[in-house]
Amino acid sequence: MLLLSIETTCDETAAAVIRDDLHVVSSVVSSQDALHQRYKGVVPEIAARAHVERILPVIAETLRKANITLADLSAIAVATTPGLAGSLLVGLAAAKALSLATGKPLIAINHLHAHVYACRLAAQQEVFPCVGFIVSGGHTNLYRCAGPCEFEYLGGTIDDAAGEAFDKVAAMLGLPYPGGPAISRIAQQGNPQAFAFPRSYWHDDSQLQFSFSGLKTAVRYAIAGPGKPLPEQQLEPQLQANLAASFQTAVVESLVDKCAAALRITQLPRLCVGGGVAANALFRERLTQEMQRCRKQLFFAPPELCTDNAVMGAIAWEKFRAGQFETLSADIRPGLDRG
Ligand code: KG4
Ligand code: ZN
Repeated sequence: MLLLSIETTCDETAAAVIRDDLHVVSSVVSSQDALHQRYKGVVPEIAARAHVERILPVIAETLRKANITLADLSAIAVATTPGLAGSLLVGLAAAKALSLATGKPLIAINHLHAHVYACRLAAQQEVFPCVGFIVSGGHTNLYRCAGPCEFEYLGGTIDDAAGEAFDKVAAMLGLPYPGGPAISRIAQQGNPQAFAFPRSYWHDDSQLQFSFSGLKTAVRYAIAGPGKPLPEQQLEPQLQANLAASFQTAVVESLVDKCAAALRITQLPRLCVGGGVAANALFRERLTQEMQRCRKQLFFAPPELCTDNAVMGAIAWEKFRAGQFETLSADIRPGLDRG
């Protein structure tokens, strides 16, 4: 059996055809990075309009690559929460229209659950129960995951998401959007100890929380002191690399510290990590070392499934098997931040 998965929660228009044994038959991601680059962040109205233009061509291309027609599908799945309201509506409207036209059941996906499920796809083995960690542009959340769709919120960021901090610091350093890949690239030439940036709630197991706004301010003050404007001209390359490396290490050490704390607190045997920041090479390396040290199993989403895509919508097969279908009055839930 085959299902069509649709993803439009933020600024990626994506679709995939996935078989019931989780084999990915086809996948298309149309990135809007170029549209948002000049604003150094996602502009919701631009994102929604771009989804409207792209959704039908992306779905058509996905079906063409799979060499199938709508008649070959057994279900239509779409991410309905959380995300940008205008973006979510485009995906849901498309999915409802296809469901109505074909008579195939409609399945709603939680985008955060899907990010963790990307680990299940790569592992090709059972990964639940686990601690699930979603570290992306919109979220830095830890969950106790009893099963693929049973998430209990353990803690998260009290201000910026880790990816958002990468994007904002990249903008301060004069680097392009999205900031994560740009910072990790130039950090390779930098000294991670050049600046002693703060790590919030460091080594404090009583607080499964993150905070990146103080770190962001510390980077800003390292470039230009309090009350001073950021310099107009490009920073000197070695200074830029040192700032990037010191910032990246501070974020990564905070993330690794809280993953270890979540495993200690829950006593769960494994950790599954997804979301755009999980593509970060230093984070992958440091977390792998830490999980070996505390003898826990670690599953990362593969790098190509860390940033938004429709393949992780394979989680819809879990709902299909459980008979969890939606009616045509299904709605979006943009602000369900805790999943
Ligand atoms: O999961 P995602 O595609 O979208 C959201 O649901 O937010 O994540 C995008 C975020 C951006 O903030 C981007 O800067 C960050 O993931 N990111 C990275 C890396 N690649 C993407 N952050 C750090 N290092 C990376 N290599
Ligand atoms: Zn995402």
